[in-house]
Formats: sequence, C-alpha cells, structure tokens
Amino acid sequence: MRIDIISAVPKLMESPLSESIVKRAREKEIVEIVLHDLREFGVGNYRQIDDEPFGGGAGMVLKPEPLFAIFKELTSQRTYDERIFMTPDGELFSQPMANRLSMMNNLLILAGHYKGVDERVRRRWITKEISIGDYVLTGGELPAALVVDAVVRLLPGAIHDVESALMDSFQNGLLEGPIYTRPAEFEGMTVPETLLSGDHKKIDAWRYEEALRRTQERRPDLLE
Ligand code: ADE
Repeated sequence: MRIDIISAVPKLMESPLSESIVKRAREKEIVEIVLHDLREFGVGNYRQIDDEPFGGGAGMVLKPEPLFAIFKELTSQRTYDERIFMTPDGELFSQPMANRLSMMNNLLILAGHYKGVDERVRRRWITKEISIGDYVLTGGELPAALVVDAVVRLLPGAIHDVESALMDSFQNGLLEGPIYTRPAEFEGMTVPETLLSGDHKKIDAWRYEEALRRTQERRPDLLE
C-alpha cells in the first residue's frame, strides 16, 4: 500500500509515523508513506497557501491554487482508490472503515490546517471525508496520522501475530476483555485460574465471556 499525505505542517506527523509498528511496516515495505509539504506549491514569492475567507469571518482558508496544483501532480502519477479530506464534518471514523481502507492500494489524504479549505477543492478532488470525533483540533494532521496508524496495523505482516489484529476490541463488535502477563501473583493480586490452565477451549470461552461482560458494562450501545 502507498499513502500520500498533503499538509502545510507535515512535521506534525513525522514522529507518529516513524516509530513502533508503523516504522517497522515502512521498513519492511509493507507500506510506503510519503508526506508532501503544501508550502512547496505556494503562490508567489512568499509561497502563499492561505487567504482570508470571502464574506469575512475569523481564521484563514487554504487557497485553491496550491491544492489544485499538488492534486494534479499526484493524480497524474498514480490512481488513488480514495482521496480523503480530514474534517470534523466528515463521516465518523470506525474500525469497519479502517478495515475497508486497509484493502486499498493507493490512498491520498489531505490534512487541512487553519480554518479550512476552499470548498472548490473538496468538490473537485475529494472522494471521502473523515472525522475522528465530535471535537475540533487545530488541523487534520493528527487525525490523518491516527487514520494511517489504524489502517497500517491491519496490513498483512505489520503485526507479527495475525490473530492479534483480528481479536482487537471492536473487530467482533465487542471490547477486549482483561489480559495478564507474568508474574501470576503480584502485589497480592492473582491471575484468573482459567488463563493458567492451558486448556485453550476453556480460555477462549472465558475470554468471550469477559469481552461480553466488559462491553455490557462500558459500551452497552455496542450490543444493541
Ligand atoms: N480536523 C480538525 N478536527 C478534526 C476532526 N475531529 N476530525 C478530522 N479532522 C479534523
């Protein structure tokens, strides 16, 4: 998979996409992630990328010219399965959406900054708009990194244990139950007998029961 990300502040995404599982996936060439600095497509000597909104109001708006230029260049090089815009008024991100995106070959993500982007950019270039939740951040960079993280960990080979990505909370519509590691007793607290039993059928049944219980307690809406 290849993911291109356009941003006026690409540095904001460097570290989240250069550590841990995403880092390893890039090294193993499971995913190629390319950050593009919108400023390089800025207009005039000052490489302007934003301007005041027509009709007045607070905040700056990303101008159409730099964005049209970079979209034209990138789409002339490859065909994207989706051209995504991160925005609080988009479709709410979810595990099923991450699953679907993980099956694509080429993704293009636009992370807006400032107040937003000129509507004509959305009309011409964007095929999918994603929100990560009902709150507003300073820009789409952290949301973009979040989406990429959720997608990359699903790619075959990104996580050693194939089952582990599939067993996650939300993958079967349930939250994950409690997990433990050694030692079996710590500060007076013990690990449930079943997990030490070595009986995998019993362990699976226990895990399912605990997942149900936790979901019932914390997110009963998921069971409806
Ligand atoms: N940009 C700013 N806030 C956002 C949000 N909640 N989701 C996606 N992009 C955003």
